[in-house]
Amino acid sequence: MKLLVVGGGGREHAIIKKLKENKEIETIYALPGNGGMAGDAICTGIGAKDIPAMVDFAVREGIDFAVVAPDDPLVLGAVDALEEAGIPCFGPNKKAAMLEGSKVFAKNLMKKYGIPTAAYEVFDDMGAALAYLQTAPLPAVIKADGLALGKGVMIAETRADAENAVRSMMADKIFGESGSHIVIEEFLEGPEVSVLSFTDGKTLVPMISSMDHKRAKDGDKGLNTGGMGTVAPNPYYTAEVAERCMRETFLPTINAMNKEGRTFKGCLYFGLMITKDGPKVIEYNCRFGDPETQVVLPLLESDLFTIMQAVQQERLSEVPVTFKNECACCVVMASDGYPQKYETGFPLTIPASLPHGAEVFVAGAKLQNGQLVTAGGRVLGVTATAPDLKTAIHNAYEATEAIHFANAYKRTDIGQRALAAGKED
Ligand code: AMP
Ligand code: GLY
Repeated sequence: MKLLVVGGGGREHAIIKKLKENKEIETIYALPGNGGMAGDAICTGIGAKDIPAMVDFAVREGIDFAVVAPDDPLVLGAVDALEEAGIPCFGPNKKAAMLEGSKVFAKNLMKKYGIPTAAYEVFDDMGAALAYLQTAPLPAVIKADGLALGKGVMIAETRADAENAVRSMMADKIFGESGSHIVIEEFLEGPEVSVLSFTDGKTLVPMISSMDHKRAKDGDKGLNTGGMGTVAPNPYYTAEVAERCMRETFLPTINAMNKEGRTFKGCLYFGLMITKDGPKVIEYNCRFGDPETQVVLPLLESDLFTIMQAVQQERLSEVPVTFKNECACCVVMASDGYPQKYETGFPLTIPASLPHGAEVFVAGAKLQNGQLVTAGGRVLGVTATAPDLKTAIHNAYEATEAIHFANAYKRTDIGQRALAAGKED
């Protein structure tokens, strides 16, 4: 079997490593991949958004199955194009990817089908948005409609900040056309939980829950990033919360998508906030989370390729999806200065084996004359699994000590909040 994995970050590296456990798979191509995963996949160098080149490549190489991981190609219709060319894919088609591609669509869907989420208003006129802000409750959460590299959300504490946020999105277009329509929503409070799920549109199987650490600095301070680390499971996702989410959110979402003629097949990611009124949806993603995948997949006991094929063939109910009864922690090593200005091009050496059997998932690195060098803000993630969270955290941090590159930066408190929450129970 020849597989194609679209994408080039740590999430894709984790997907590729897990897929490789299936012995039927002979070759995996990554599109574009990165130099740090060159030992696990053949990197093509084709951009993940270049759909015509992607289809040409897949047809030419006789790809048997494709996994489209990032949001951009999904929202642009990569799955539709590959399937039209006869290549079975894991991932939602363009109509279903709208769940992440448009926040207005997602919010209206939740309202129509009674799925718990923050109260909101939609605006496509700046005057109306500014007028609304005169009396809107504070803090106000302002979101650009479309994909904005995960940055299209602003939380304003004051009316002046809220007005500036609206102007920057709608007039200055800091997120491009994404800001032509905006959502202004109620500020929710409570711990956040990420739940990734497999669904074929009929059956939905949640994966083990996880907790992201989005802020750049310790103590959840500093700027929002793509994610500085993760742990799984998330202690706030109790059996009671899980049962409620399944009943009030997960199944209603796939049923709503079916009713709208947008059957969702692939990995559906629920970004949840556990408020005092129960779990509410903060966001949907139409794909695996990054760096959630780097803790979730190492705990998956079942065969990932078997599950992905079953999703594509709409027979998910027939295959086992089980997780180890263990914990995982992923610590991201970034270039100092990320998510703003940072330097790259520093040599990076990854030992063949790390302490405690920890795994490395490379995100921002490239090969230069045979030497791996840093090439991005988030360079890599180091994941350790262990029977308990405290050991997983300890082992992941110890494993990071074996990896060196100039200007490396990591948070020192990944998992501490989860550890403290777990002790309260
Ligand atoms: P998103 O890009 O939608 O994941 O949002 C980024 C972050 O903004 C989330 O992880 C939350 O921490 C925060 N956020 C988004 N919406 C809300 C809300 N309605 N209330 C409070 N925080 C929010
Ligand atoms: N870690 C959050 C995301 O993948 O959107």
